[in-house]
Amino acid sequence: MSFDRSIKIAPSILSADFANFGQEIRAIEDQGCDWVHVDVMDGHFVPNLTFGPPAVAAFRPHVKTVMDVHLMIAPVDQYIDAYAKAGADYISAHLEATTHPHRTLQAIRNAGAKSGLALNPGTGIGDIEYLLDMIDMFVIMTVNPGFGGQKFIHSQIDKVEKLRAMIGDRPIHIEIDGGITPETAPLMAAAGADVLVAGSAVFNGGSVDTPDIYGKNIKAIRDAASAAQ
Ligand code: DX5
Ligand code: ZN
Repeated sequence: MSFDRSIKIAPSILSADFANFGQEIRAIEDQGCDWVHVDVMDGHFVPNLTFGPPAVAAFRPHVKTVMDVHLMIAPVDQYIDAYAKAGADYISAHLEATTHPHRTLQAIRNAGAKSGLALNPGTGIGDIEYLLDMIDMFVIMTVNPGFGGQKFIHSQIDKVEKLRAMIGDRPIHIEIDGGITPETAPLMAAAGADVLVAGSAVFNGGSVDTPDIYGKNIKAIRDAASAAQ
């Protein structure tokens, strides 16, 4: 099968009900999401705290699609095995969080996960050329990481266009994270992104008792992005 560049929607459970993750994950998957995005924060690399490996391991049996774990932690290398054992399919580490990104990406693959490299809005793509064959996915941050519900940073459109050209035919996904809505999703799909993370734009207004709202939100983002791809 050829590499799948069709649009994939990855709701971030950072915007879910924290007392009810199992049902929330089932609800978004029943409503048609493609992946489940898990934001791991350490209160040091970013000013917020979320999930350790035991929490991620507890999510795993509920995730029937793809568990996409975004590590916003520094240092990162010594925690990679624990998140892989917790069942992550993709593990993304930040370029800004490691002195040796080549080693970090190698450690992710050696642990049996797909490797992601995340870039903050202020980070350019000048240093990634010699990492390309180590990477399964780029995560381009369109907000400064740490919180859901922030405003999309438009300067990142140009970065994604340049990155997409650099990737060429290589089987590497481009994931966009932060401020994705039905208005911003098409900008990124047109620039070359295929995986769209959305927290507030999926979960706001819905709940496990009204899951059809999640479904409408997912569909609105997918339809807008697919039309622009
Ligand atoms: C930000 C996280 C995002 C965030 C996205 O640090 O990495 O995944 O939850 O949330 P929204 O879609 O609300 O911007
Ligand atoms: Zn994220």
